[in-house]
Amino acid sequence: MNQAAIEKAQAHFAELVKEQLERVEQMKQAQDWIDFTKLKPIIIGVCWGDGIGPIISQETQRILSFLLEDEVKSGKVEFRTIDGLTIENRAKHLKAIPDDVLAELKACHVILKAPTTTPEKGDQWPNIESANVAMRRYLDLFANIRPVKVPSEGIDWIFFRENTEGAYVLGSKGTMVTEDLAFDFKVITRQGAERIIRMAFDYAAKNNINKVTVVTKANVVKTTDGLFLDTAARIAKEYPQVQWDGWYIDIMTAKLVDPKRRTQFRVMVLPNLYGDILTDEAAEFQGGVGTAGSANVGKRYAMFEAIHGSAPRMIKEGRGKYADPSSLVRAGAMMLRHIGFAAQAEKLEMALDICGQYEKKLVITGRDDGATAEEFGNYLMETTQDPNIKSRWEASVRK
Ligand code: IPM
Ligand code: MG
Repeated sequence: MNQAAIEKAQAHFAELVKEQLERVEQMKQAQDWIDFTKLKPIIIGVCWGDGIGPIISQETQRILSFLLEDEVKSGKVEFRTIDGLTIENRAKHLKAIPDDVLAELKACHVILKAPTTTPEKGDQWPNIESANVAMRRYLDLFANIRPVKVPSEGIDWIFFRENTEGAYVLGSKGTMVTEDLAFDFKVITRQGAERIIRMAFDYAAKNNINKVTVVTKANVVKTTDGLFLDTAARIAKEYPQVQWDGWYIDIMTAKLVDPKRRTQFRVMVLPNLYGDILTDEAAEFQGGVGTAGSANVGKRYAMFEAIHGSAPRMIKEGRGKYADPSSLVRAGAMMLRHIGFAAQAEKLEMALDICGQYEKKLVITGRDDGATAEEFGNYLMETTQDPNIKSRWEASVRK
């Protein structure tokens, strides 16, 4: 027996347990939701990120500034650029989010975040943690909300992915006990499960949706997923008007492909990694990950991002200006809704459907045979200004 290795692993585990128990204590302290109606200015931080990030985030900011022109003029809304969230700067400081960048983020109320490079084993970058994962944890953005809609096929889903626990929270804290034995850790807490599950049930109840689907693998991953599922059963009792059912991730993944079955799903709530995987699959029905937005919401902060990566290959091949900004623009629309500008959000969402899914007067292909991000941005902005946008959207969806 390698006693030294065992003791080292024990110490490592003890450290993690201590850290997680502290996090539980923090979660127990009730905190109120931020009230955007009372804020002036609402500060929107825009992180440019890596690869195609600067291109699509500038395009998104241009569209949002256009829709919020009056609010920016009146001082209700302020945009702030945060340019230190690049892989070069993060590598220089050997930190997922350098301290000064984190301070800048914390001085904002909401953040629009372009994709950032996540180093992986064997690449040129030091093995720092993903900036998304770190930001979700530092700002306690516990709910990752990802809607997917294909109205013409009856698909109207919204995923509530737990965002601060599961296989992710300790994803960079695994340990090689010996060179032959690797451990990673997965953690679920009662408080962490409760807050995301409650949010999903609240959403269903408020929107008169009579169905919440809880996705786990509790038949095999018994302790952590078991706690998640038990918590769901308990919270569900507070919402007698909402029915719920539990599905395992494997069959759930299959049933999303089944055209008869999939339209019955509406609100899904699930631990972090399952949510990561299932939402990529779901987005594919809507036109791919390039079309889906993602809201990372906590009580104090919120961050809105594309669900795809930074596409360094597009930059290497000189195709950056043909990058599709739709995913980040959709995230921008979710941000508008979150901070209280529902009318602008609705217009932008309809424009995204019309331009990206139905009319397609301009199509983005990622190459020079398609539109540029800027041309597509203009198309979206023009569409939002159409006084008949609603009937145009309805006609598109019915086709
Ligand atoms: C997502 C992404 C991230 C995640 C990556 C980039 C770390 O895939 O937002 O879904 O796994 O959460
Ligand atoms: Mg993902």
